[in-house]
Amino acid sequence: MTNTNTKTKTKTEATPAKTANGPSRSKGGSDQVVSIPKRHEEERKRLPIYSARDAILAGIKKHPSVIIVGETGSGKTTQIPQYILEAGWAQYGAIAVTQPRRVAATSLARRVAEEAGTKLGQRVGYTVRFDDTSSPHTKLKYLTDGMLMREILSDPLLHRYNYVLLDEAHERTLRTDILFGMLKDIQSKRHQLKPNGSATTTPRIVDELKIIVMSATLDAERFAKYFNNAEILYVEGRQFPVRVFNTLEPQPDYLDSALVTALQIHTEQGPGDVLVFLTGQEEIENLEKLLLEQRQRLPAEAQDLLVCPLFAALPPAQQALVFTPAPPRTRKIILATNIAETSITLPGIRYVIDTGVHKSRGYSSKIGIESLLVAPISKSSARQRTGRAGREALGYCYRLYTEDGFAQLEEDSEPEILRCNLAAAILQLKAAGVNDVLDFDYMDRPPKLALLRALEQLYALNALDDTGRLSKLGKWMAEFPLDPCFAKVLFESQAHQCTHEVIDIIALLSVDTLFMMPFHKREEAAEARQKFTSLDGDHITFLNLQKAYQSVKGDSQWCSDHFVNHRGMHHVQEVRKQLRQVCERVKVNPNVSCGHDFDRVLQCFTTGFFHQTALLQPDGTYRSVIGSQYVRIHPSSTLFGKRHEAILYNELVFTTRLYVRGVSAIQANWIPEASPRYFRQGQLTAKAALPSVKGP
Ligand code: CDP
Ligand code: MG
Repeated sequence: MTNTNTKTKTKTEATPAKTANGPSRSKGGSDQVVSIPKRHEEERKRLPIYSARDAILAGIKKHPSVIIVGETGSGKTTQIPQYILEAGWAQYGAIAVTQPRRVAATSLARRVAEEAGTKLGQRVGYTVRFDDTSSPHTKLKYLTDGMLMREILSDPLLHRYNYVLLDEAHERTLRTDILFGMLKDIQSKRHQLKPNGSATTTPRIVDELKIIVMSATLDAERFAKYFNNAEILYVEGRQFPVRVFNTLEPQPDYLDSALVTALQIHTEQGPGDVLVFLTGQEEIENLEKLLLEQRQRLPAEAQDLLVCPLFAALPPAQQALVFTPAPPRTRKIILATNIAETSITLPGIRYVIDTGVHKSRGYSSKIGIESLLVAPISKSSARQRTGRAGREALGYCYRLYTEDGFAQLEEDSEPEILRCNLAAAILQLKAAGVNDVLDFDYMDRPPKLALLRALEQLYALNALDDTGRLSKLGKWMAEFPLDPCFAKVLFESQAHQCTHEVIDIIALLSVDTLFMMPFHKREEAAEARQKFTSLDGDHITFLNLQKAYQSVKGDSQWCSDHFVNHRGMHHVQEVRKQLRQVCERVKVNPNVSCGHDFDRVLQCFTTGFFHQTALLQPDGTYRSVIGSQYVRIHPSSTLFGKRHEAILYNELVFTTRLYVRGVSAIQANWIPEASPRYFRQGQLTAKAALPSVKGP
């Protein structure tokens, strides 16, 4: 193991200055204040944002759009919507608060319902993919930005809401960016519906839509300009200094360094919890295991160690653990994705370990495939991570990279819209009535090539008609909160009579790692896995796993005996259940099964993933059908080292080489059949030109 901390340089990171335009107190807007429930009253008043309450309400009253910038933990997300609620302004229309992540939406709603003294799902609720606790009485709703986009489908001018708070705006996720443009448009349309405008409407409909953009760090001027010269309010934060340590050498294995550093802090440093930033579930679970192993070896007199994972797919009960103080003589080590960067404020943290990486979506226009990549964070993210250590007292941040490494980071991360595959987003845009996606009011316009590529993909999937409008199938696909490729597969499963199998496989593909490969038990694990292995490849292997898992009713001992990711499988069952529900809602029978005729299943997957296929070359390598790239089957795949005339894959990963994961063997002739629009006359090389992509 490498020792990361004995040779470190230190410096103290200055608290980010948040002083310009500090909010002035004003009297506006505190009419009809409803009393705050006693339980959290004092705590709420102590939050930094409380002193800005009147100024914020006044700003919202006066301006159609307001930008609010304030340090993480100052109270933006939990308090501002409550201020509006308590001011009695949500009598007719409700308040929506968007979050980029579902964990944040659910945990914040829970917290705010408690503060507001209401049962979750009554006055305060949340809606996230596959989970809705809101009711017609809900006045304040936390929801993922994707869900708000879906609500626009059924309520194009969002008449349900008078206030939309766009939170974590600095993250610039694809969905947030699309929402920005849609909400700007809705705001202006609703403004035109005012009584002095031409349209005659009911009084409820004339209500204007207020847009409130919130973030801990953002280029406020730029946002203000985009939102028609919105008012900017800065909220003073509360932040203690944080000592920053960098490594002297670049670390070859940040997971190992994180383990060593966490243990060093635990055994050598004073009280306070540790927060480790990692890239995803798999990594978090690995480190959790390693830490728990080390815990056994701690000297009897040492304080205990409690490991709490925090990532999007974590069940709510376990999420709650991160907010609960550790028992006496116990140090909490929280292993989190960048959820903990700004969305969720964790109490008690004094030590931060920053690996300097996160997972971000990458997109290559050249080969037209989207993939999740582990990538360096930005300087602004690094500063946010550091700040998490200084919420309650002087803190310490261990950056597992050198000072030079820090200097080389980008200032801010690039908006997702400039990096990702746009097909799903465009499907949603089109379904929401934005047909002309090339002229849409993007805050950062994606390259025209990427937009065209996405339109082309949707056209190839038959989601668009020859005029570029959403087809009947496209509308059907937009009903599913799924990547258009998976939605297409699900649709085709009806004709191939394998909906049951397809739902299972899609759910199984929603988890990173189903088969565990502990370092010291690789052989045993491989042997256990052999029981499920199908010669057809990973898709059917996963299906076999699901069948076996169901036959033992999800027994956890069985999972651990077979090196199966129990938590992951639990998540699979949830997704499976939800997908089956959506199917039933759109009148698709989820029980239609093809028995053991797995060709049907794979043929069906080819209809959605014909662009993620590769052909065997005479020299034994595979070349992708589109882009003609050399790809290698990942060692974790059932088909590793095997030769088949053609393969289909669900994921492309760049590590040292270009690998494909989630791989199955298919027949080469299925590929052109899968999209006659894409492959001209059954040829795999020629590609049909896309008609009328320019829209009307
Ligand atoms: O949005 P912002 O980062 O400005 O702050 P917030 O999320 O509104 O959090 C305000 C305070 O509420 C923080 O001190 C959090 O620790 C606390 N909070 C909590 O105790 N439990 C939650 N589930 C959410 C927030
Ligand atoms: Mg917040």
